[in-house]
Amino acid sequence: MKITYYGHSCFGVEVNGKHLLFDPFISSNALAKDITVSSIKADYILISHGHEDHIADAISIAKHTGAKVICTFEIHNWLNKNNISNTHPMNIGGKSKFDFGNVKCVVAVHSSSLPDGSYGGNPMGFIIESTQGNFYFAGDTALTYDMKLIGNYRTINFAFLPIGDNFTMGVDNAIIAAEFINCRKIIGMHYDTFGMIKIDKDEAVKKFAQAGSELILFNVGESKELGVRS
Ligand code: NI
Ligand code: MN
Repeated sequence: MKITYYGHSCFGVEVNGKHLLFDPFISSNALAKDITVSSIKADYILISHGHEDHIADAISIAKHTGAKVICTFEIHNWLNKNNISNTHPMNIGGKSKFDFGNVKCVVAVHSSSLPDGSYGGNPMGFIIESTQGNFYFAGDTALTYDMKLIGNYRTINFAFLPIGDNFTMGVDNAIIAAEFINCRKIIGMHYDTFGMIKIDKDEAVKKFAQAGSELILFNVGESKELGVRS
């Protein structure tokens, strides 16, 4: 699976030839100023919750790509009101089959309001199951004991976890989350974008390594192939 980082918590992941885009927040992210939003490919856009830093470019990318947006029922309603009709509403605990694989929605401990102040439903994380491997995109969340259920549910080949602290879990709790989900290949997200979530990246990588896990940090715009069965 080819993974491309667009800054903050926004990643593109190619799964079975389909382009999945998570939590698009690019045009108002100073760290992603070199990314051209109109050049991003997407067959599916997955939105973990309604906060601006996860949804800011969702409407424009949905419009120019025609991608199907997978999100909570409340965000689906908000998108429909904003003339985006190719949506697939889901909620926590639910699983649905798509042409690239399955999406299962899981608990995220956070909040979720939309840019206009309306309620975004509960925040979610996603487990993607495919013939190319499985991964977990945590969205914005605290460390929660529920993550143990994810480790029991599937082999997770790699996981996207927030590490910036302040609004989500930080590095120390993300190391415990990696143990709970039984996955030692972690891609860090939700750090450095704003002053309150700036972290010491070298120290973070070192801490993960000391705990027997690998913390993978991307440069904005960088792509990496993750070593799961193809
Ligand atoms: Ni948030
Ligand atoms: Mn956020």
